[in-house]
Amino acid sequence: MTTTSARPDLGIAIHHLREADLATADDVMRRAFGTFLGLPDPAAFMQTADYVSTRWAADPSAAFAVTVDGEVAGSNFAACWGSVGFFGPLTISPHLWDRGLGRRLMDPVMERFEAWGCHHVGLFTFAQSPKHVELYRRFGFWPRFLTAVMRRAVPTDGPTAGWSTLSSLPQESRADAVAACRAVADEVFAGLDLEREIAAVGRLGLGETVLLGAEDALDGFAVCHLGGGTEAGEGLCLVKFGAVRPGAGAGERLGRLLDACESLAARRGMAHIDAGVNLARVGAYRLLADRGYRTWLQGVAMHRANEPGYSHEGAWVLDDWR
Ligand SMILES: CC(C)(COP(=O)(O)OP(=O)(O)OC[C@H]1O[C@@H](n2cnc3c(N)ncnc32)[C@H](O)[C@@H]1OP(=O)(O)O)[C@@H](O)C(=O)NCCC(=O)NCCS
Repeated sequence: MTTTSARPDLGIAIHHLREADLATADDVMRRAFGTFLGLPDPAAFMQTADYVSTRWAADPSAAFAVTVDGEVAGSNFAACWGSVGFFGPLTISPHLWDRGLGRRLMDPVMERFEAWGCHHVGLFTFAQSPKHVELYRRFGFWPRFLTAVMRRAVPTDGPTAGWSTLSSLPQESRADAVAACRAVADEVFAGLDLEREIAAVGRLGLGETVLLGAEDALDGFAVCHLGGGTEAGEGLCLVKFGAVRPGAGAGERLGRLLDACESLAARRGMAHIDAGVNLARVGAYRLLADRGYRTWLQGVAMHRANEPGYSHEGAWVLDDWR
């Protein structure tokens, strides 16, 4: 999106989200979800977790606002993982629902995916809401498998070996490690690349990137948010993305990756750990359940053109696209 689009008759404009509008956009986001979910205090939704500021800071050019008579009425965020794109959270202030504003905020994210050249594009939404499913269907998305966001208490049985973090490597080795992460992701799905997410976590101090196995030939990696002011929230480690090399032994590798993330969470004093998984990734879901993870939030993944992407039995991947 290069220009501001406006319909002067309605006082509605779509533009990039400005730093000065982050607090309002954050408040709208919390009240929108809190109202939809029927929380007693909608503005307290997600407590100390932060999506609006972190996603804006990660890439302001992919953060969009709709304004009505100059006031921020909603926002939406696009993310690029190489050949994969997803968006959210899309939120509109509750008093302005059902007036076409959400639909308007879809246009700039679809333009971003086009500009980035993302092949596989999707989102996470409320499976029980006909409105949500229909809103996104009109932009070419189709509901596929459920995605479960799962949680367990961080185990206290001591640290595990065989992993490191990107931030612990000397500066001169980090580019190679990020390239090794790219190689793992590319084996999972051609062109899948978490470089932007890894860079944002490092630059903004949101958490750590966990490297599993030898640095030059990784078995897997995970991008983790840790604590308040991140997408995790106080006392929580969120595995925003985790993947291991597919093929023979992938289940064992994902188990070791989870050991590593849990050790990181314990080391950083987190009480709980969250990981999301699409239920088409049957082995990965079973593994989480067997390790004592329990689903606290469940939605549906909608994929453009109904393509499976990397949500299938052979993919040992953790993410939730929220
Ligand atoms: C979801 C949300 C962003 C939508 O914003 P909105 O401005 O209310 O949505 P719009 O008015 O642009 O579009 C809604 C569409 O759904 C349609 N719709 C509503 N109920 C429907 C139903 N039961 N069946 C089919 N379509 C339905 C409306 O008709 C409308 O389409 P139209 O404008 O072509 O008539 C907003 O409701 C919100 O902030 N919800 C809380 C947070 C949230 O859930 N965010 C999305 C997370 S994935």
